[in-house]
Order: sequence, then C-alpha cells, then structure tokens
Amino acid sequence: MSYKKHVLICGGTGCLSSKSAQISENIKGILKEKGMEDEVQVVLTGCFGFCEKGPIVKIMPENTFYVEVRPEHAARIVEEDLIKGEKIETLLYRDPVTKERIAEGENMEFYKKQQRIALRNCGLIDPENIEEYFGNRGYQALGKIITKQAPQDVINEVKLAGIRGRGGGGFPTGLKWQFALNNEADQKYVVCNADEGDPGAFMDRAILEGDPHSIVEAMAICGYATKASKGLVYIRAEYPLAIKRLKKAINDAKEYGLLGENILGTDFSFDIDIKYGAGAFVCGEETALIHSMEGERGEPTSKPPFPAEAGYWGKPTNVNNVETFANIPEIILNGGEWFKGIGTEKSSGTKVFALAGKINNVGLVEVPMGTKLREVIYEIGGGIKDGKKFKAVQTGGPSGGCLTEDDLDTPIDFDTLTSKGSMMGSGGMIVMDEDDCMVAVSKFYLDFTVEESCGKCTPCRIGNTRLYEILDKITKGKGTMEDLDLLRELSETIKDTSLCGLGQTSPNPVLSTLNKFWDEYVAHVTDKKCPAGACSDLIQYKINDKCIGCTACARVCPVSCISGKVKEKHIIDQEKCIKCGACYTTCKFNAIERG
Ligand SMILES: Cc1cc2nc3c(=O)[nH]c(=O)nc-3n(C[C@H](O)[C@H](O)[C@H](O)COP(=O)(O)O)c2cc1C
Repeated sequence: MSYKKHVLICGGTGCLSSKSAQISENIKGILKEKGMEDEVQVVLTGCFGFCEKGPIVKIMPENTFYVEVRPEHAARIVEEDLIKGEKIETLLYRDPVTKERIAEGENMEFYKKQQRIALRNCGLIDPENIEEYFGNRGYQALGKIITKQAPQDVINEVKLAGIRGRGGGGFPTGLKWQFALNNEADQKYVVCNADEGDPGAFMDRAILEGDPHSIVEAMAICGYATKASKGLVYIRAEYPLAIKRLKKAINDAKEYGLLGENILGTDFSFDIDIKYGAGAFVCGEETALIHSMEGERGEPTSKPPFPAEAGYWGKPTNVNNVETFANIPEIILNGGEWFKGIGTEKSSGTKVFALAGKINNVGLVEVPMGTKLREVIYEIGGGIKDGKKFKAVQTGGPSGGCLTEDDLDTPIDFDTLTSKGSMMGSGGMIVMDEDDCMVAVSKFYLDFTVEESCGKCTPCRIGNTRLYEILDKITKGKGTMEDLDLLRELSETIKDTSLCGLGQTSPNPVLSTLNKFWDEYVAHVTDKKCPAGACSDLIQYKINDKCIGCTACARVCPVSCISGKVKEKHIIDQEKCIKCGACYTTCKFNAIERG
C-alpha cells in the first residue's frame, strides 16, 4: 500500500479517555465512504506528550499538529485538510504569548528544547504493530549484538554510554549488568520494573503504551549481555492498556522468532513473562518487588545481597527501570560515545519527566540532562497557570524535595538535584504556585508514605505516622515551636534507621520544606495563620461591604451557609462553613475576604 498521507492520533491513556479512539474510527469511516482508505493511513499511536491539549492529531507528511480534537471534527479533517490540503486554523495550537496559531509541533515552545530518545517512537508508530517498530530500526540492535558481539562487548558499550538507572537511584547500568554477568548460575533473570507508583508520575506507563517493543528488545539485549534466559516485567495491574500492548508485543516478537528458543538462529534463547502488581508503592523497591513476584508479601529485605547476586528465587537478577531499558537499543545502534555526548558529564543522556501541577503545559517531556529547571517550567511548561506566582517544584515524588525560585537555574542532573536537597527520582515533577501551602504539601506526601509503608521496620511504620500527626497538628493551628524541632529530629532518625529506600527518603519533603519554607511553618505555629490560605482550619471567609447582593455566592455554596436578600449584603454562617472557597472564587466583586 502506498499511502499519500498518514493521520497519527494519540492513543495514550489520557487522549483515549478524551475519545481519541472515536476520532480514529470516525476518520476511518469517512475515508471509507469516500473510497480513500488506500490513500490515507490512520494510526493510533502512543503519547505525543502534550497531554494538556489532547487529543492530538498529526497529519503527515505536512507535520500539521491539531490540538483538542473532538470526534465531530473528523469530517473537517478529511474534507478540509486531507482532501483540500487546507489547514484547519481553529484546531491549530495558539501560542499563549504571541497569540499566533502554530501549524507544526516542532515550532511550539513545548517541543523546541526536547530531545526524544526514550520516547522516540511514542506518537510516531502504532505500538501494536511490530512492523512499524521494524520500520524504525526495531530489533536491529538485538540482531547486531547476538550475531556480532560477545556479552562483554555489549556491557562495555553500556558502560561507555554512562547511563544511570532512571528508576530513582541513578546507579550506573553498565556496572549493574557487569555484576549480573560475573555471577555465574544455572539460571539468571532480567526484570523490568514497571511498578511506577509515585503520585503524578506516568513516564513508564507512557513508554509501555507507546513503544512496548523497545522494552522487549532491550530486555533481550540485557539477557544476552548478562547470560540470562528469562525476563519478567513487573507491572501494576492498574495499567491495563500498557499490559495489553506489552502482551501483544511479546506474542508478536515470539512469532517473528525474536523471543523464545534460538533467537534469529543463534544459540541465544530468551523469553519474557508478565507479573502483575497490586498497586503498592513499596513493591517498586527491587527486593520487595522480587518477593511480590515470588508470591510473598511485598516487603523489602536489607541489601546486600543485591539482586544481581541473589534475586528472584535466589538467582542472579538484573532489575532495571522501563525508561532505562528504553534507551538501550539506541545506545547499541548509535554507540555509547554518542549517548555520552548528550547531557552532562556525570548524568549522560536525557530524562523523561511527567510535568504536572499548576503549570500551563501538563505533559510528558524528555530533555537532555543538564537542562535548567527554568527552561522546563517556563519554556516547555509554558509557565504557571492563570498568571499566578511560582512557589516551588517537587521532584522525586514522595522521596524527593521541593526546589524554589532560587533553584530555577539549577541544571537537572542526578547530583545537582541531590545537592539542592531534592532528587531526580523517577521523573515526577509537580509545580506549585502561591496558593499551595508547603506544610500541607509535606503533609500530603507523608499521608502517602504512611499509607504505603509496608510496616516491616519500626522507624518507617511508627516514625512516619508520628511525623504525619505533627504536621496535621500544625496545619490545624495546634503546633508548637518544639514540634518543629521534633519534626527535624524525627526525620533524621527515620532516614538513618529505616530498612529500605521508602523510609530512608520519606522525610525528605518535610526536611526540604522546613529548610526552604521555615517562615511558613512558623506562621502556622505562632500566628495560627496559613499564608497561602490553604489550610482550612486556619482560614475564615467573610463578606465585606462590596457585596451587592447578587446571590452568586449563596448559589454555589454546597452547604447553604450564605444568606441574605437580593441586592442586600449577604452573611456567612461560620458554624456551617466548610471553607471550600467556592464563594471566594465565584464572587466577581471582591466582596469575599479570606483571612
Ligand atoms: C519505595 C521505592 C519505590 C520504588 N519504585 C520504583 C518504581 O516504581 N520503578 C522503578 O523502576 N524503580 C523503583 N524504585 C527503585 C528500585 O528499587 C530500583 O532501584 C530500580 O528499579 C533499578 O532500576 P534502574 O537502575 O534502571 O533505575 C523504587 C525504590 C523505592 C525505595
């Protein structure tokens, strides 16, 4: 079939929930009616990254980038674009600063500074079609190494690339593979960690949804390099689309002789199974993950022994993150030297971030290591929503910390983020504005870690609960200055004495906010005030004399606590008020005060 045009439609979880599959069906249906199905190919791809404005539809070869497309736009796309060759102005992205419509994705600020290596095929190929993966150099890296290289050569290339694990720890991948190769055993395993439980993180899910073959291929490469014959993907059952596409990729790879016995006629045999997680954050920790796969409770054990020595069923096991694996085929094909040339000296390559929170362009971004936080937040991310003031960005999820205005020119790499009191983590990046209370933010993360602690070790189980209780007290205006000292002391003890990375890092949000937003803690304790106006126990809404009695506030109040006659000043019953702020955001006359 020689198609004249291709319509690429985002088929990631986000856009599918906004009916992108229906857009695809509608376009296909209209093309069929017009007898054009042999001229235009319609492909449901993985995520384009620009989730803020999804569903995204891209027309190739012109590269036209349509945003916020709805199923009812299908007829216009066929008639105006595909048939008449005219761009549909109203579906083009409008730059919020210049107000100009931009026709091609590459010219949008969102994409200009990105470099897609791990996400190279997401938004480009049909993830359920192995031939499209072949068309983009798929399985060439595997073919190259198993026919031409020894395991040690492969590991040398990965070492040369300098890639560090993208799952949070940043451990050098080549070195890890070397340990697994050096440990002789009758059976070895390769595990792909696709648990991804950080709040706000969706990088690994998007890679599996958009390019599952890259993970299958990389695991086989790792199997060859470490002399393992069995691969396992540990993925949380909450990721059904990623699971469906991964299963299909594994089956198709088997059919093509790229998995299974004697791959491509060589002596190398490798197979992959899927293991499902039930959605526990701690099961992302590699030893807990291995116990969970063995059918045991998902609890960590202390290291050593490391999985590379004694992992799944006591056998040498190499565990890597999804994004780490996604880079491997490109490293093999382009060479370690090429990869090392991207990013910074000690953090080579790119990093994928799930950019979320109070940011204009929520989405999935991939940038070279060393890119500044300011570039990610203000250029790629388009700045803060509703013209509000930037307050902080949380990197590293519940294990990380907050970075402030002073840190905006920090280059993003493993070591710099750690030196600034945060960490790279797996790639969650949550932006906060002036309305976010940093005490409440650390309470939010502690709430998460208390829920997710497996309870095996006392510092994590009891210590985090006590930390949460103190933070709760402070947000309710009942904290004391001694509590602030206790927060710090307890945090340090939990970090020093917990069994696994969960407890060793869970106090980081508390410590980083104490260090960077001390005044905000003090205001809660001494003035009994929440400067951001977010802690409901410390705020009160009152109606002032600007009220003209329009009744808008009374109509939106969910507990009917606002009363007054039309065209007369209203009042709020403080006993009944639940401090939801609905009146405050609705009033157009600045008549509601928050104090
Ligand atoms: C509480 C906790 C949760 C973790 N969750 C994940 C996860 O979801 N995905 C992941 O790849 N690594 C996670 N890790 C890190 C893993 O233990 C391990 O270091 C990683 O999978 C190794 O792969 P990498 O070297 O490619 O980064 C977690 C660690 C801790 C302590």
